[in-house]
Amino acid sequence: MKLRVLSKQDVQQAVPMREAIEIVKGAFAQFSAGKAVVPLRTQLPVKRHEGVTLFMPAYLSESDDLGVKIVSVFPRNLDKSLPTIFALVVVVEAATGRPVAVMDGTYLTALRTGAASGAATDLLARQDARVAAIFGAGAQGRTQLLAVCEVRDIETAWVYDVNPQAAERYAQEMAGKGRVPADLRVASSPAEAAREADVICTATTSRTPVFADADLKPDVHINAVGSFTPEMQEIPEQTVGRARIVVGSREGCLSETGDLIIPIRKGLITEHDIYAELGEIAAGIKPGRDNADEITLFKSVGNAVQDVSVARAVLTQAETLGLGIEVEL
Ligand SMILES: NC(=O)c1ccc[n+]([C@@H]2O[C@H](COP(=O)([O-])OP(=O)(O)OC[C@H]3O[C@@H](n4cnc5c(N)ncnc54)[C@H](O)[C@@H]3O)[C@@H](O)[C@H]2O)c1
Repeated sequence: MKLRVLSKQDVQQAVPMREAIEIVKGAFAQFSAGKAVVPLRTQLPVKRHEGVTLFMPAYLSESDDLGVKIVSVFPRNLDKSLPTIFALVVVVEAATGRPVAVMDGTYLTALRTGAASGAATDLLARQDARVAAIFGAGAQGRTQLLAVCEVRDIETAWVYDVNPQAAERYAQEMAGKGRVPADLRVASSPAEAAREADVICTATTSRTPVFADADLKPDVHINAVGSFTPEMQEIPEQTVGRARIVVGSREGCLSETGDLIIPIRKGLITEHDIYAELGEIAAGIKPGRDNADEITLFKSVGNAVQDVSVARAVLTQAETLGLGIEVEL
């Protein structure tokens, strides 16, 4: 049995962001149409080492994509000068059940998370959006900006991080990259980043809202990807209360993100205020932005259909280009 092994560089070379955005749109469309089998992710606590390993399998029946992502989050790795997150994806051939590839999942996660926000921005932001603001200058914040710039002609971008050095590094690295404008500015406050923004992405580890509702333009589109536990919140409750809310997965968001769970618990919104899943809009079942003056909010906690669909595309391209190495098991 032959298995292709693909590094982070191979994954980066195989699938550009623009292509990942279209793949993720298709994956969410299948998901929302009931054409995907996606058990809620299994979280395995490794208490002895204060870590957790997550197993995220998915099968998309229309595109016939099958696989699993394994992600570990081990905060104590910092003491050992190791990354806190490790991830890999196994691609399985659906017709036979044969594992055909393993690949680095760390960049793939950032790619598919950015791609989901790119897809949401494409479907929900104003067509004439010109200013983007990124909160959180980390791994996800980088691919958020790349993705937004693929779908709108962004002329000015702002980045805000509670760690100013991280924001400076981000600006130096990202200005002019892909379709990111050269005009990439470090904001000295959340308000400075938010107040001119047509598109905002929040990709932080914050537990409390990262900007004030009063700082928003009345027609901003927001992609919120950071909060993935019931206690974590990035978006002010007032904003959630007045926005048109779109989610990756209703079930996933209602069980995992404080951005929705906290305002629901306080009675500010109900789950019926979730307008749509992204896949319903991608499939044309529900319209996207219909009122230029509304706030739209895309909330995602991540879904294995994103990983498995993008990983399949990486493998297909790797076979064409001869990327990676083949191992006989
Ligand atoms: N939705 C998804 O599919 C998905 C996928 C991957 C990661 N995530 C989540 O996204 C978040 C970011 O991930 P990452 O890999 O980029 O992490 P990271 O540690 O690389 O970067 C996070 C950055 O956020 C900054 N930050 C923290 N609080 C802030 C605040 N209040 N305002 C501005 N900046 C702030 C930190 O200083 C840091 O630079 C994490 O919570 C992660 O679990 C979500």
